[in-house]
Amino acid sequence: MEIQYTAPLRGELTVPGDKSISHRSVMFGALADGRTEVSHFLTGADCLSTIACFRQMGIEIEQNGTDVTVHGKGLDGLQAPSGILDAGNSGTTVRLMSGILSGQSFSSVITGDESICRRPMKRIMTPLSEMNALIRSRQDNGCAPLEIRPSALKGIHYQSPVASAQVKSCVLLAGLYADGRTSVTEPAVSRNHSELMLRYFGADVVSEGTTASVAPRPHLTGQRIRVPGDISSAAYFIAAALLVPGSEVLLKNVGINPTRDGMLHVCQAMGADITLLNADFSGAEPCADLLVRSSSLHGTVIEGDIIPTLIDELPVLAVLGAFADGTTIIRDAAELKVKESDRIAVMTENLSAIGCDVQATEDGMIIRGGSPLHGAVIDSRKDHRVAMSFAAAAPACDGKMEIRDSDCVTISYPGFYRDLEKLCR
Ligand code: S3P
Repeated sequence: MEIQYTAPLRGELTVPGDKSISHRSVMFGALADGRTEVSHFLTGADCLSTIACFRQMGIEIEQNGTDVTVHGKGLDGLQAPSGILDAGNSGTTVRLMSGILSGQSFSSVITGDESICRRPMKRIMTPLSEMNALIRSRQDNGCAPLEIRPSALKGIHYQSPVASAQVKSCVLLAGLYADGRTSVTEPAVSRNHSELMLRYFGADVVSEGTTASVAPRPHLTGQRIRVPGDISSAAYFIAAALLVPGSEVLLKNVGINPTRDGMLHVCQAMGADITLLNADFSGAEPCADLLVRSSSLHGTVIEGDIIPTLIDELPVLAVLGAFADGTTIIRDAAELKVKESDRIAVMTENLSAIGCDVQATEDGMIIRGGSPLHGAVIDSRKDHRVAMSFAAAAPACDGKMEIRDSDCVTISYPGFYRDLEKLCR
Protein backbone atom coordinates (compact mmCIF):
# COMPACT_ATOMS: atom_id res chain seq x y z
CA MET A 1 0.00 0.00 0.00
CA GLU A 2 1.25 3.47 -0.91
CA ILE A 3 0.42 6.48 1.24
CA GLN A 4 1.03 10.04 0.18
CA TYR A 5 -1.15 12.50 2.06
CA THR A 6 -0.01 16.06 2.59
CA ALA A 7 -3.11 17.73 3.95
CA PRO A 8 -3.47 18.46 7.67
CA LEU A 9 -5.73 16.11 9.62
CA ARG A 10 -9.06 17.67 10.47
CA GLY A 11 -12.38 16.44 11.81
CA GLU A 12 -13.85 13.95 14.26
CA LEU A 13 -13.33 10.25 14.59
CA THR A 14 -14.61 7.46 16.81
CA VAL A 15 -11.94 4.78 16.88
CA PRO A 16 -12.94 1.10 17.17
CA GLY A 17 -13.44 -0.58 20.52
CA ASP A 18 -10.59 -1.46 22.83
CA LYS A 19 -8.95 -4.76 21.89
CA SER A 20 -8.10 -5.88 25.43
CA ILE A 21 -11.59 -5.10 26.73
CA SER A 22 -13.29 -6.73 23.72
CA HIS A 23 -11.41 -10.02 24.27
CA ARG A 24 -12.29 -10.04 27.94
CA SER A 25 -15.97 -9.27 27.35
CA VAL A 26 -16.33 -12.50 25.36
CA MET A 27 -14.18 -14.62 27.68
CA PHE A 28 -15.83 -13.52 30.90
CA GLY A 29 -19.27 -13.43 29.25
CA ALA A 30 -18.80 -17.10 28.32
CA LEU A 31 -17.97 -17.99 31.94
CA ALA A 32 -20.89 -15.99 33.32
CA ASP A 33 -24.47 -17.17 33.66
CA GLY A 34 -26.85 -15.60 31.16
CA ARG A 35 -26.52 -13.03 28.42
CA THR A 36 -23.69 -10.55 28.09
CA GLU A 37 -24.48 -7.78 25.63
CA VAL A 38 -21.46 -5.98 24.27
CA SER A 39 -21.56 -2.85 22.14
CA HIS A 40 -18.72 -1.17 20.22
CA PHE A 41 -16.93 -4.56 20.20
CA LEU A 42 -13.72 -4.58 18.15
CA THR A 43 -14.24 -6.71 15.06
CA GLY A 44 -10.49 -7.01 14.43
CA ALA A 45 -9.11 -10.44 13.58
CA ASP A 46 -7.68 -11.00 17.09
CA CYS A 47 -11.03 -10.60 18.82
CA LEU A 48 -12.75 -12.72 16.17
CA SER A 49 -10.24 -15.48 17.05
CA THR A 50 -11.44 -15.31 20.65
CA ILE A 51 -15.07 -15.56 19.54
CA ALA A 52 -14.26 -18.57 17.33
CA CYS A 53 -12.48 -20.37 20.20
CA PHE A 54 -15.46 -19.99 22.52
CA ARG A 55 -17.93 -21.04 19.83
CA GLN A 56 -15.79 -24.16 19.42
CA MET A 57 -16.38 -24.86 23.11
CA GLY A 58 -20.16 -24.70 22.77
CA ILE A 59 -20.81 -21.04 23.61
CA GLU A 60 -23.43 -19.36 21.47
CA ILE A 61 -22.21 -15.93 20.39
CA GLU A 62 -24.19 -13.65 18.07
CA GLN A 63 -22.35 -10.92 16.23
CA ASN A 64 -24.07 -8.13 14.40
CA GLY A 65 -21.44 -5.58 13.39
CA THR A 66 -19.97 -4.25 16.61
CA ASP A 67 -22.84 -5.62 18.73
CA VAL A 68 -22.05 -8.98 20.26
CA THR A 69 -24.22 -11.14 22.51
CA VAL A 70 -22.59 -13.94 24.46
CA HIS A 71 -24.85 -16.64 25.89
CA GLY A 72 -22.76 -17.61 28.89
CA LYS A 73 -23.04 -21.01 30.51
CA GLY A 74 -21.30 -20.38 33.83
CA LEU A 75 -17.88 -21.31 35.16
CA ASP A 76 -18.30 -25.00 34.25
CA GLY A 77 -20.31 -24.62 31.06
CA LEU A 78 -17.57 -24.95 28.43
CA GLN A 79 -17.50 -28.14 26.34
CA ALA A 80 -14.45 -29.97 25.04
CA PRO A 81 -13.49 -28.34 21.73
CA SER A 82 -13.94 -30.42 18.60
CA GLY A 83 -10.37 -29.72 17.44
CA ILE A 84 -7.34 -27.55 18.06
CA LEU A 85 -8.19 -24.03 19.22
CA ASP A 86 -6.76 -21.40 16.89
CA ALA A 87 -5.80 -18.05 18.41
CA GLY A 88 -4.53 -16.67 15.09
CA ASN A 89 -2.13 -13.78 15.76
CA SER A 90 -3.50 -13.05 19.23
CA GLY A 91 -1.22 -13.34 22.26
CA THR A 92 -4.08 -12.27 24.53
CA THR A 93 -6.21 -15.16 23.29
CA VAL A 94 -3.53 -17.83 23.82
CA ARG A 95 -2.36 -16.60 27.19
CA LEU A 96 -5.70 -15.75 28.83
CA MET A 97 -7.39 -18.85 27.43
CA SER A 98 -4.58 -21.07 28.73
CA GLY A 99 -5.55 -19.94 32.23
CA ILE A 100 -9.20 -20.78 31.60
CA LEU A 101 -8.41 -24.09 29.87
CA SER A 102 -6.22 -25.18 32.80
CA GLY A 103 -9.33 -25.22 34.99
CA GLN A 104 -11.49 -27.35 32.68
CA SER A 105 -12.38 -31.03 33.03
CA PHE A 106 -11.38 -31.70 29.41
CA SER A 107 -8.13 -31.70 27.47
CA SER A 108 -7.40 -29.08 24.85
CA VAL A 109 -4.73 -27.82 22.50
CA ILE A 110 -4.34 -24.14 21.63
CA THR A 111 -2.10 -22.68 18.96
CA GLY A 112 -1.96 -19.81 16.48
CA ASP A 113 -0.13 -18.44 13.47
CA GLU A 114 3.61 -18.43 12.76
CA SER A 115 4.21 -15.32 14.88
CA ILE A 116 2.29 -16.75 17.87
CA CYS A 117 4.28 -19.98 17.67
CA ARG A 118 7.48 -17.96 18.19
CA ARG A 119 6.26 -15.95 21.17
CA PRO A 120 7.26 -16.96 24.71
CA MET A 121 4.71 -19.06 26.59
CA LYS A 122 6.98 -20.19 29.46
CA ARG A 123 5.93 -17.01 31.21
CA ILE A 124 2.45 -18.53 31.64
CA MET A 125 3.48 -22.19 31.80
CA THR A 126 5.63 -21.53 34.89
CA PRO A 127 2.90 -20.08 37.13
CA LEU A 128 0.23 -22.44 35.75
CA SER A 129 2.46 -25.44 36.53
CA GLU A 130 2.97 -24.05 40.03
CA MET A 131 -0.81 -24.15 40.37
CA ASN A 132 -0.65 -27.87 39.38
CA ALA A 133 -1.88 -27.29 35.83
CA LEU A 134 -0.83 -29.91 33.30
CA ILE A 135 0.38 -27.72 30.47
CA ARG A 136 3.13 -28.52 28.00
CA SER A 137 4.58 -27.06 24.87
CA ARG A 138 4.10 -29.67 22.14
CA GLN A 139 7.44 -28.90 20.50
CA ASP A 140 9.14 -28.55 23.89
CA ASN A 141 10.34 -25.08 22.90
CA GLY A 142 8.33 -23.02 25.39
CA CYS A 143 5.96 -21.88 22.62
CA ALA A 144 2.54 -22.81 21.26
CA PRO A 145 1.00 -25.27 20.42
CA LEU A 146 0.15 -25.75 24.08
CA GLU A 147 -1.45 -28.95 25.31
CA ILE A 148 -3.50 -28.71 28.49
CA ARG A 149 -4.92 -31.64 30.48
CA PRO A 150 -7.39 -31.56 33.37
CA SER A 151 -6.03 -31.24 36.91
CA ALA A 152 -7.03 -29.87 40.31
CA LEU A 153 -5.60 -26.37 40.60
CA LYS A 154 -4.28 -24.85 43.78
CA GLY A 155 -4.27 -21.16 44.64
CA ILE A 156 -0.81 -19.59 44.68
CA HIS A 157 0.87 -16.29 45.18
CA TYR A 158 2.86 -15.58 42.03
CA GLN A 159 5.68 -13.07 41.89
CA SER A 160 5.81 -12.30 38.18
CA PRO A 161 9.20 -11.34 36.75
CA VAL A 162 7.48 -9.29 34.00
CA ALA A 163 4.85 -6.56 34.12
CA SER A 164 2.43 -8.30 31.77
CA ALA A 165 -1.35 -8.13 31.87
CA GLN A 166 -1.49 -11.30 29.83
CA VAL A 167 0.49 -13.22 32.45
CA LYS A 168 -1.42 -11.64 35.34
CA SER A 169 -4.80 -12.31 33.71
CA CYS A 170 -3.88 -15.89 32.82
CA VAL A 171 -3.03 -16.67 36.45
CA LEU A 172 -6.11 -14.90 37.82
CA LEU A 173 -8.36 -16.77 35.38
CA ALA A 174 -6.87 -20.11 36.42
CA GLY A 175 -7.45 -18.85 39.97
CA LEU A 176 -11.20 -18.90 39.31
CA TYR A 177 -10.87 -22.71 39.32
CA ALA A 178 -8.34 -23.06 42.18
CA ASP A 179 -8.84 -24.36 45.71
CA GLY A 180 -7.94 -21.07 47.37
CA ARG A 181 -7.18 -17.44 46.71
CA THR A 182 -4.73 -16.67 43.88
CA SER A 183 -2.65 -13.53 43.70
CA VAL A 184 -0.10 -12.03 41.35
CA THR A 185 2.49 -9.36 42.15
CA GLU A 186 4.14 -7.60 39.22
CA PRO A 187 7.24 -5.40 39.06
CA ALA A 188 4.98 -2.52 37.89
CA VAL A 189 1.23 -2.33 37.38
CA SER A 190 0.10 -3.56 33.96
CA ARG A 191 -3.32 -2.90 32.41
CA ASN A 192 -6.06 -3.85 34.88
CA HIS A 193 -9.01 -4.58 32.58
CA SER A 194 -9.32 -8.17 33.84
CA GLU A 195 -9.54 -7.07 37.45
CA LEU A 196 -12.12 -4.37 36.68
CA MET A 197 -14.27 -6.55 34.46
CA LEU A 198 -14.15 -9.69 36.63
CA ARG A 199 -15.31 -7.55 39.54
CA TYR A 200 -18.10 -6.13 37.38
CA PHE A 201 -19.24 -9.68 36.59
CA GLY A 202 -19.36 -10.48 40.35
CA ALA A 203 -15.94 -11.92 41.22
CA ASP A 204 -14.12 -11.06 44.44
CA VAL A 205 -11.03 -9.31 43.08
CA VAL A 206 -8.75 -7.14 45.18
CA SER A 207 -6.06 -4.82 43.77
CA GLU A 208 -3.50 -3.37 46.14
CA GLY A 209 -0.43 -1.66 44.73
CA THR A 210 1.24 -4.05 42.32
CA THR A 211 -0.73 -7.09 43.56
CA ALA A 212 -4.08 -8.37 42.31
CA SER A 213 -5.90 -11.34 43.79
CA VAL A 214 -9.04 -13.33 43.11
CA ALA A 215 -11.18 -15.68 45.21
CA PRO A 216 -12.03 -19.04 43.60
CA ARG A 217 -15.36 -20.24 42.22
CA PRO A 218 -17.23 -16.92 41.95
CA HIS A 219 -20.71 -16.78 40.54
CA LEU A 220 -20.39 -14.60 37.46
CA THR A 221 -23.51 -13.00 36.00
CA GLY A 222 -23.95 -11.75 32.42
CA GLN A 223 -23.64 -7.98 32.00
CA ARG A 224 -23.99 -5.10 29.55
CA ILE A 225 -20.69 -3.69 28.36
CA ARG A 226 -20.01 -0.65 26.20
CA VAL A 227 -16.41 -0.97 25.04
CA PRO A 228 -14.57 2.37 24.98
CA GLY A 229 -12.50 3.40 21.97
CA ASP A 230 -9.02 1.88 21.97
CA ILE A 231 -6.36 4.37 23.05
CA SER A 232 -3.83 2.14 21.24
CA SER A 233 -5.73 2.81 17.98
CA ALA A 234 -6.28 6.49 18.75
CA ALA A 235 -2.50 6.74 19.19
CA TYR A 236 -1.86 6.79 15.42
CA PHE A 237 -4.20 9.73 14.83
CA ILE A 238 -2.84 11.54 17.88
CA ALA A 239 0.63 11.16 16.37
CA ALA A 240 -0.31 12.17 12.83
CA ALA A 241 -2.28 15.19 14.06
CA LEU A 242 0.61 16.33 16.27
CA LEU A 243 3.07 16.01 13.39
CA VAL A 244 1.23 17.62 10.47
CA PRO A 245 1.06 21.43 10.81
CA GLY A 246 -2.47 22.84 10.83
CA SER A 247 -4.08 19.66 12.12
CA GLU A 248 -6.91 19.54 14.64
CA VAL A 249 -8.78 16.31 15.36
CA LEU A 250 -11.33 15.26 17.93
CA LEU A 251 -11.10 11.59 18.88
CA LYS A 252 -14.37 10.66 20.54
CA ASN A 253 -14.90 8.36 23.50
CA VAL A 254 -11.39 7.02 23.96
CA GLY A 255 -10.59 4.81 26.96
CA ILE A 256 -8.28 6.64 29.39
CA ASN A 257 -7.80 3.96 32.04
CA PRO A 258 -4.71 5.13 34.02
CA THR A 259 -3.02 1.77 33.37
CA ARG A 260 -3.22 2.55 29.63
CA ASP A 261 -2.82 6.32 29.30
CA GLY A 262 0.99 6.62 29.45
CA MET A 263 1.16 7.88 25.89
CA LEU A 264 -0.86 10.97 26.76
CA HIS A 265 1.57 11.86 29.55
CA VAL A 266 4.61 11.31 27.36
CA CYS A 267 3.13 13.37 24.51
CA GLN A 268 2.37 16.20 26.92
CA ALA A 269 5.94 16.01 28.26
CA MET A 270 7.12 16.34 24.63
CA GLY A 271 5.11 19.54 24.24
CA ALA A 272 1.93 18.13 22.67
CA ASP A 273 -1.30 20.08 22.66
CA ILE A 274 -3.85 17.46 23.77
CA THR A 275 -6.99 18.41 25.70
CA LEU A 276 -9.34 15.94 27.38
CA LEU A 277 -13.01 16.85 26.96
CA ASN A 278 -16.15 15.28 28.40
CA ALA A 279 -14.14 12.99 30.67
CA ASP A 280 -16.43 10.35 32.13
CA PHE A 281 -15.25 8.48 35.21
CA SER A 282 -18.66 7.03 36.08
CA GLY A 283 -18.08 3.53 34.68
CA ALA A 284 -15.39 0.97 35.49
CA GLU A 285 -13.41 2.14 32.45
CA PRO A 286 -12.99 5.93 32.23
CA CYS A 287 -13.15 7.59 28.82
CA ALA A 288 -12.90 11.05 27.26
CA ASP A 289 -12.82 12.88 23.94
CA LEU A 290 -9.29 13.88 22.95
CA LEU A 291 -8.76 17.16 21.14
CA VAL A 292 -5.36 17.05 19.44
CA ARG A 293 -3.70 20.01 17.71
CA SER A 294 -0.44 20.01 15.78
CA SER A 295 2.50 20.87 18.01
CA SER A 296 6.24 21.19 17.84
CA LEU A 297 7.70 18.39 19.92
CA HIS A 298 10.92 17.94 21.81
CA GLY A 299 12.67 14.73 22.85
CA THR A 300 12.10 12.96 26.16
CA VAL A 301 13.05 9.89 28.17
CA ILE A 302 10.49 7.08 28.40
CA GLU A 303 11.43 4.60 31.13
CA GLY A 304 10.44 2.82 34.33
CA ASP A 305 6.95 2.13 35.62
CA ILE A 306 5.24 4.08 32.83
CA ILE A 307 6.39 1.48 30.26
CA PRO A 308 3.55 -1.06 30.82
CA THR A 309 1.01 1.78 30.48
CA LEU A 310 2.15 2.55 26.91
CA ILE A 311 3.78 -0.69 25.81
CA ASP A 312 1.75 -0.95 22.57
CA GLU A 313 2.25 2.75 21.80
CA LEU A 314 6.06 2.63 21.89
CA PRO A 315 6.36 2.10 18.11
CA VAL A 316 4.36 5.25 17.37
CA LEU A 317 6.08 7.13 20.19
CA ALA A 318 9.37 6.23 18.50
CA VAL A 319 7.98 7.85 15.34
CA LEU A 320 7.16 10.99 17.35
CA GLY A 321 10.71 10.92 18.72
CA ALA A 322 12.03 10.86 15.14
CA PHE A 323 10.25 14.14 14.37
CA ALA A 324 10.93 15.79 17.74
CA ASP A 325 13.82 18.15 18.36
CA GLY A 326 16.57 16.55 20.40
CA THR A 327 17.00 13.02 21.65
CA THR A 328 14.30 10.59 22.73
CA ILE A 329 15.42 7.61 24.81
CA ILE A 330 13.26 4.56 25.36
CA ARG A 331 14.54 2.15 28.00
CA ASP A 332 13.22 -0.64 30.29
CA ALA A 333 11.21 -1.88 27.31
CA ALA A 334 12.83 -5.23 26.46
CA GLU A 335 9.27 -6.62 26.21
CA LEU A 336 9.14 -4.95 22.78
CA LYS A 337 11.29 -7.80 21.46
CA VAL A 338 8.58 -10.41 22.11
CA LYS A 339 5.55 -8.68 20.63
CA GLU A 340 4.02 -9.52 17.23
CA SER A 341 7.51 -8.77 15.87
CA ASP A 342 10.78 -7.75 17.53
CA ARG A 343 9.65 -4.13 17.69
CA ILE A 344 13.07 -2.79 18.70
CA ALA A 345 14.71 -4.31 15.61
CA VAL A 346 11.84 -3.67 13.20
CA MET A 347 11.25 -0.06 14.28
CA THR A 348 14.97 0.73 14.20
CA GLU A 349 15.33 -0.69 10.70
CA ASN A 350 12.29 1.15 9.34
CA LEU A 351 13.03 4.44 11.11
CA SER A 352 16.51 4.34 9.55
CA ALA A 353 14.85 3.78 6.16
CA ILE A 354 12.94 7.08 6.47
CA GLY A 355 16.16 8.94 7.34
CA CYS A 356 16.12 8.90 11.14
CA ASP A 357 19.25 8.64 13.26
CA VAL A 358 18.26 5.77 15.55
CA GLN A 359 20.11 3.17 17.53
CA ALA A 360 18.70 -0.04 18.98
CA THR A 361 19.64 -0.87 22.57
CA GLU A 362 19.08 -3.99 24.67
CA ASP A 363 15.88 -2.60 26.15
CA GLY A 364 14.79 0.20 23.85
CA MET A 365 16.03 2.79 21.38
CA ILE A 366 17.96 6.03 21.22
CA ILE A 367 16.38 8.34 18.66
CA ARG A 368 18.10 11.54 17.59
CA GLY A 369 15.21 13.49 16.15
CA GLY A 370 14.71 16.54 14.08
CA SER A 371 16.34 15.68 10.76
CA PRO A 372 14.08 15.85 7.69
CA LEU A 373 12.36 12.51 7.08
CA HIS A 374 11.20 11.01 3.81
CA GLY A 375 8.90 8.25 2.63
CA ALA A 376 10.44 4.81 2.10
CA VAL A 377 9.53 1.16 1.65
CA ILE A 378 8.50 -0.09 5.10
CA ASP A 379 8.67 -3.77 5.91
CA SER A 380 5.96 -4.14 8.56
CA ARG A 381 6.82 -7.83 9.17
CA LYS A 382 3.05 -8.26 9.35
CA ASP A 383 3.03 -6.37 12.65
CA HIS A 384 -0.10 -4.20 12.75
CA ARG A 385 1.41 -1.64 15.10
CA VAL A 386 4.47 -1.16 12.90
CA ALA A 387 2.32 -0.70 9.77
CA MET A 388 0.06 1.87 11.48
CA SER A 389 3.00 3.75 13.02
CA PHE A 390 4.51 4.42 9.58
CA ALA A 391 1.13 5.21 8.04
CA ALA A 392 0.82 7.86 10.78
CA ALA A 393 4.27 9.18 9.86
CA ALA A 394 3.46 9.29 6.14
CA PRO A 395 1.60 12.63 6.01
CA ALA A 396 4.53 14.29 7.80
CA CYS A 397 7.20 12.85 5.49
CA ASP A 398 8.40 14.07 2.10
CA GLY A 399 7.45 11.73 -0.73
CA LYS A 400 5.43 8.57 -0.53
CA MET A 401 5.47 5.79 2.02
CA GLU A 402 5.05 2.23 0.82
CA ILE A 403 4.02 -0.22 3.50
CA ARG A 404 4.55 -3.93 2.88
CA ASP A 405 1.94 -6.36 4.21
CA SER A 406 -0.17 -3.32 5.02
CA ASP A 407 -3.33 -5.43 5.45
CA CYS A 408 -2.01 -6.73 8.80
CA VAL A 409 -3.83 -3.74 10.36
CA THR A 410 -6.99 -5.90 10.29
CA ILE A 411 -5.62 -7.52 13.48
CA SER A 412 -6.71 -4.52 15.52
CA TYR A 413 -8.16 -1.91 13.14
CA PRO A 414 -9.85 -3.14 9.95
CA GLY A 415 -10.88 0.37 8.74
CA PHE A 416 -7.62 2.10 9.63
CA TYR A 417 -6.51 3.37 6.20
CA ARG A 418 -10.01 4.57 5.37
CA ASP A 419 -10.18 6.55 8.63
CA LEU A 420 -6.73 8.06 8.06
CA GLU A 421 -7.69 9.12 4.56
CA LYS A 422 -10.96 10.60 5.85
CA LEU A 423 -9.12 12.84 8.32
CA CYS A 424 -6.51 13.86 5.74
CA ARG A 425 -9.11 15.07 3.25
C1 S3P B 1 -2.58 -7.10 26.43
C2 S3P B 1 -1.45 -6.92 27.19
C3 S3P B 1 -0.17 -6.46 26.63
C4 S3P B 1 -0.34 -5.84 25.26
C5 S3P B 1 -1.24 -6.63 24.38
C6 S3P B 1 -2.61 -6.79 25.01
C7 S3P B 1 -3.80 -7.59 27.10
O1 S3P B 1 0.70 -7.57 26.50
O2 S3P B 1 0.92 -5.68 24.65
O3 S3P B 1 -1.38 -6.00 23.13
O4 S3P B 1 -4.89 -7.50 26.52
O5 S3P B 1 -3.69 -8.08 28.25
P1 S3P B 1 1.60 -8.03 27.75
O6 S3P B 1 0.68 -8.28 28.85
O7 S3P B 1 2.30 -9.29 27.35
O8 S3P B 1 2.56 -6.89 27.98
